[in-house]
Amino acid sequence: MASQKKGRAGKEKILITAALPYANGPLHLGHMVEYVQADIFARVMRLTGEDTAFVCADDTHGAPIEINAAKQGIAPEELIRRYYEEHTRDFSDFLISFDTYYTTNSSENRKYSDFFFNTLKEKGFIYQKMVELTYCEACRRYLPDRYVKGRCPKCDAPDQYGDVCEKCNSTYRTIELKEPYCSTCGNPPSRRTTLHYFFKLSAFSEKLERWLVSNPGLQAEAKNFVMGWISKGLEDWDITRDGPYFGFLIPGETSKYYYVWLDAPIGYIASTEKHCKDAESYWKSEDSMIVHFIGKDIVYFHFLFWPAMLMGVGYNLPDIIKVHGFLTVNGEKMSKSRGTFITARDYLGKENPEFLRFYYASSLGDSMSDVDLDFGDFQAKVNSELVDNIANFAYRVLSFANNNLDSKVGRFSGQDELVEDIEGKIKSVVESYRTFNFRGAVRGILEISTVGNQYFQENKPWHLIRTDRKKCESVVALSANIVKNISILLSPVMPRFCDSLQKQLGLMGAGFNGLDFSLKNHKIAKARIIFTRIEGSPFSVKAFPLSLKVAQILSVDDHPGADRLYVLRISLGEEERQLVAGLKAHYLKDELVGKNIVVVANLKEAVIRGVKSKGMLLAADDGSRLRAIEAPGARPGDPVIVEGFVPGEQEISIEEFMKVRLTTRGRKVVFNGQVLRTEKGDLVANVADSAKVR
Ligand code: MSP
Ligand code: ZN
Repeated sequence: MASQKKGRAGKEKILITAALPYANGPLHLGHMVEYVQADIFARVMRLTGEDTAFVCADDTHGAPIEINAAKQGIAPEELIRRYYEEHTRDFSDFLISFDTYYTTNSSENRKYSDFFFNTLKEKGFIYQKMVELTYCEACRRYLPDRYVKGRCPKCDAPDQYGDVCEKCNSTYRTIELKEPYCSTCGNPPSRRTTLHYFFKLSAFSEKLERWLVSNPGLQAEAKNFVMGWISKGLEDWDITRDGPYFGFLIPGETSKYYYVWLDAPIGYIASTEKHCKDAESYWKSEDSMIVHFIGKDIVYFHFLFWPAMLMGVGYNLPDIIKVHGFLTVNGEKMSKSRGTFITARDYLGKENPEFLRFYYASSLGDSMSDVDLDFGDFQAKVNSELVDNIANFAYRVLSFANNNLDSKVGRFSGQDELVEDIEGKIKSVVESYRTFNFRGAVRGILEISTVGNQYFQENKPWHLIRTDRKKCESVVALSANIVKNISILLSPVMPRFCDSLQKQLGLMGAGFNGLDFSLKNHKIAKARIIFTRIEGSPFSVKAFPLSLKVAQILSVDDHPGADRLYVLRISLGEEERQLVAGLKAHYLKDELVGKNIVVVANLKEAVIRGVKSKGMLLAADDGSRLRAIEAPGARPGDPVIVEGFVPGEQEISIEEFMKVRLTTRGRKVVFNGQVLRTEKGDLVANVADSAKVR
């Protein structure tokens, strides 16, 4: 019994965490790669009989949350409350079985953050140093990396963030930016010096290196990265942020807060405390094992800062840190304009969450490579593997017993080879799960189902029922045992489906110790079809012939050869263009300069009364007024989004453009019932409803 209960490292209990999602936006399918994965593992541990705690929380602190709340005119507490509700609902609908889902803005987290800070300070691992930062006098705040922009100090590229240049990839400090400006108000910032607390990460180099080398629970791929960073020399870590900030005040300070990445991982401990009232029974005990699931973007925090902090206070280090790659959709980064940025809620409105869990499980191995969600592949997999293979097998066997054997599973005899074969496969599925090879586990389950299907098909119980009832009963009994084993093996991935299968089998909540062929002389319930094939990809997006982009008008001149026309110079961000527009009767030049308009960027170049025009400006005409369509808040070059459609890539003629029916409703532009928008908000058409837009 005791040995049964022991975890992999011979420890009594296991704590599993997933990274804490920011309470600053909706969960999307990228996030779900992580939470589904961690959840499958937690369920595997529970089914194995491990004493399992699976905890997580919203990560609620930081500058973006404070700034977003201010922009929306609400308190940060209100913002994080809304996301807490949204996140917990999404998680529950995706069947993520957290034992505790908490928040980092809790008294427990404050207590542990102070404990870490005070202990590390007492031990000499925290010291103070003056730093020079970027400060916006107009916004009256220090500007963190993402809130200040300017020219890259290395390559001179314009409009780069304060930490890293997207053009040349070099990293720098905000004060090094050339011609900096505040990304909120546009004013040039000044510099200020302020006293910050630093954590002596450098003091832990050797210990960290030893931990990395000696720990078998860390992926070689991740270790290599981290060893590289260590060998370049670790810099001490600034753990302070000046107010206004949303977070915990540092003890003894009035306007200095812990940097969010200090209190976020401590949130793992606070959630443990919330879960069992005694966090140290996991974090300071010999008997527990700690497993973190994280994405590859936060390796630095989890392999360096976090273990160093734990070492500093004398807590346990994680036994396993399972790092996964990023989600791509149809082979590319998720993108709003391509319609492939799918929130958890969007998905739930369209498809069964267990299909995605199954798809992810079949893609996940123990590597850090990216996971691709390919819409065509998704549909094919669900249909052929889930519906045709597994669900169909279960339904055939159980409905046959319902209809021909009075819902009774008798007993089977012989078939030792087949049973042995499946027993071997069962072992390897369980082993695959335990080693994070979920792809292998799914493959093994499919093999078992294929074997079961073949066996049932070849023995033709529908004939046997008339010729050899005893043999028929035997075939059905063995098949029902295979269904039972599948219903247990697949339950970490598809808990709801498997629960329903087990109810049909007249069983309940079997664990991995129920993986055997012992089902006999047993009454089953009524079989029922649980799901059917997906017809047509639920996410397929249609092509929208136009590529609409936001442009800013730089200058306006009269057309030399036409009374009603202007010649505009516009900026599309990366590119400047000239176009001719019939706006002269409707706008003064000054009214146009600086405006954010929308252009058809993929229109064939034309020469209009002797002047070249590349693209066309969108305007709405309700018969009495003609107004240019505007895109307030957006930046030149931003794509216009039409939900469910991908923008056209090919050049189109003016005739093709004229066929696209765009109209207005409530001062918005509408296509096919969808309101056109940018990431910054809906397009604006200041005319009456049902106007022509062209
Ligand atoms: N708040 C931090 C984590 C703090 S842990 C002490 C954070 N939050 S996050 O919301 O940005 O991401 C949460 C987790 O989801 C991270 O592990 C991250 O890697 C993962 N993912 C976020 N977007 C993802 C994809 N597009 N694809 C795969 N995983 C992704 O980081
Ligand atoms: Zn500002």
